[in-house]
Amino acid sequence: MEPTVINSIKELQTWRSCLPAEASVGFVPTMGALHQGHQTLLQKSIQENQVTVLSIFVNPTQFNDKKDLEKYPVTLEKDLELAQKSGVDIVFLPTYASMYPDNYRYKISEDDFSKKLCGKDRPGHFDGVLTVVMRLLNLVRPQRAYFGEKDYQQLHLIKGMTEAFFMDVQIIPVATVREADGLAMSSRNVRLTPEQRTWAPKIHESLVASPSAQAAQKNLENYGVQVDYLEDLEGRRFAAVRVGEVRLIDNVKL
Ligand code: PAJ
Repeated sequence: MEPTVINSIKELQTWRSCLPAEASVGFVPTMGALHQGHQTLLQKSIQENQVTVLSIFVNPTQFNDKKDLEKYPVTLEKDLELAQKSGVDIVFLPTYASMYPDNYRYKISEDDFSKKLCGKDRPGHFDGVLTVVMRLLNLVRPQRAYFGEKDYQQLHLIKGMTEAFFMDVQIIPVATVREADGLAMSSRNVRLTPEQRTWAPKIHESLVASPSAQAAQKNLENYGVQVDYLEDLEGRRFAAVRVGEVRLIDNVKL
């Protein structure tokens, strides 16, 4: 069956309040340009819940770099096809004005982990992520929401937020889905040139094979790319690397 596409907040709230109280709702928030990583989250939600909601919203408040926002790939038609093939029930496509009636005067922030790793060179990024996820969770009111370990820091911060604010939702982690050569799937991968795409699996390779974070950083820098960070933290190894104009992140369990 085709998913129902909902554009307005009002319509979503009406739909939600008409669901029987016992219906389990799974939620997968995304920014679109869907790939197999997103699809794995959707499949898990569909398996575990009676109803699955997918949201597609390129959230401007989490982009500290305007160029990155402008270049973020938009593939709505393909996304809707993937949603249908996967068996999604509702696709929520809000606008900025509807998600931010306060024009982002109100926000959620975290004071510790959000300042590390990606938070260091992307000021305000996690405020934007937490704020939009809080708003979406309040609208969709799912029992379960699915997030990828690919964005491990984001997953950790969102779980922390739901606990800190006593929110009645389970945050379910999903392992990183990779290409056959090890590159973590990402909407940004389509912006790599063929040559950069051939090189990109070196990021995962270095994370896994290097004896230390320092050695992994050196190894990558030897190829002439800019490493924004490469750090071991809480039993994982995290990296952000600039491949030309594209910033790629990855992490592995140590
Ligand atoms: P987006 O980058 O579209 O990712 C949506 C979800 O898919 C996130 O939970 C992300 O971790 C997961 N995901 C992406 N690539 C993955 C992969 N290769 N394997 C497993 N999961 C993967 O993350 C965001 O959007 C936004 O910050 C959002 C949470 C929607 C808030 O705007």
